[in-house]
Amino acid sequence: MTQTSKIRTPIVCVLGHVDHGKTSLLDKIRGSSVVDTEAGAITQHIGATVVPIDAITQMGGALSKLTVSIPGLLFIDTPGHHAFTTLRARGGSLADLAVVVVDVNEGFKPQTIEALQILRNYKTPFVIAANKVDRIHGWRVQENAPFATTFAKQNERVQGIVETKLYELVGKLSDLGFNSERYDRVRDFARNIAIVPTSAITGEGIPDVLMMLIGLAQRYMTENLAMSVEGPGAGTVLEVKEERGLGTTLDVILYDGTLSVGDEIVVAGHTQTITTKVRSLLKPRPMSEILIEEKFERVKSVTAASGIKVAAPKLEGVIAGTPLRVIRGENRDAVVEQVMNEI
Ligand code: GTP
Ligand code: MG
Repeated sequence: MTQTSKIRTPIVCVLGHVDHGKTSLLDKIRGSSVVDTEAGAITQHIGATVVPIDAITQMGGALSKLTVSIPGLLFIDTPGHHAFTTLRARGGSLADLAVVVVDVNEGFKPQTIEALQILRNYKTPFVIAANKVDRIHGWRVQENAPFATTFAKQNERVQGIVETKLYELVGKLSDLGFNSERYDRVRDFARNIAIVPTSAITGEGIPDVLMMLIGLAQRYMTENLAMSVEGPGAGTVLEVKEERGLGTTLDVILYDGTLSVGDEIVVAGHTQTITTKVRSLLKPRPMSEILIEEKFERVKSVTAASGIKVAAPKLEGVIAGTPLRVIRGENRDAVVEQVMNEI
């Protein structure tokens, strides 16, 4: 795996309308239950989870014959509630790839359309998870099965409903200027958006979503990703939090380069930039989510992409949503100016 170690973990943003199943889909992927711990089960923040490639290929089962060269996927959950447009745009701007979750029974809703606009603006490749197929009346559940397997087990009436619902999504996407197809009928992934029928509850279709994401990452991103683990770290501050024994800390998504203990960093306060030195880095263990995991592992250094908690002096007053940059020798003036421009 040495040659793969330089390839950056792609950042995958999960977007979509409220209650269409984004957090549940991630829960199924990471095997935990974040949705149960949320107030009224509504996501009110961006959460980040690293899923290692081994876990992904295991879930992919027979589908995982692809030659995989990425270390894993860093998933970012976003809220679907209409009040959180800024958080969604922030997630969208960080993402290399995205999953748009749409309840197949409800179809497109305002935040589904907003998500597609964000992805179009940033030219982010994405797949659509046509979720909650298990809610189709008469659906016969095949736990965690790839879509083709479970579709073959459904009766003709249910198959017909699935096709009709997908056809409606294809039509809606076409109105919005996107060509799309059921994922197993897509010939050219550069021209067509793949739609994968899923159930976040039964796990059906999830292996296919993961394989689509890995396929997209490999096809379009290997060059970009390969360049992005060396060099000074760059990230976005998701949250500023008090932690007992640590003082003010930053939850950061590092999307580029390396961040190490002892690094000089620059972040944004209300009116000026703040320059400080990293005292400790706390990494959530793989598959756990940075915003709910209590037990962190202390590390000396992290490479992109990672969700990482940064402890350092002088972090009071840092603003969430602003950049974090590592100062390394000659880049000082440039990075301070970049961060200043965000204030
Ligand atoms: P926000 O974070 O508020 O935008 O919602 P969300 O998109 O994260 O939705 P969430 O995962 O919280 O799911 C909303 C509800 O739909 C929960 O009660 C889930 O159990 C249910 N749900 C999600 N996906 C599925 C699915 O595939 N099948 C069924 N039957 N229920 C689902
Ligand atoms: Mg959610």
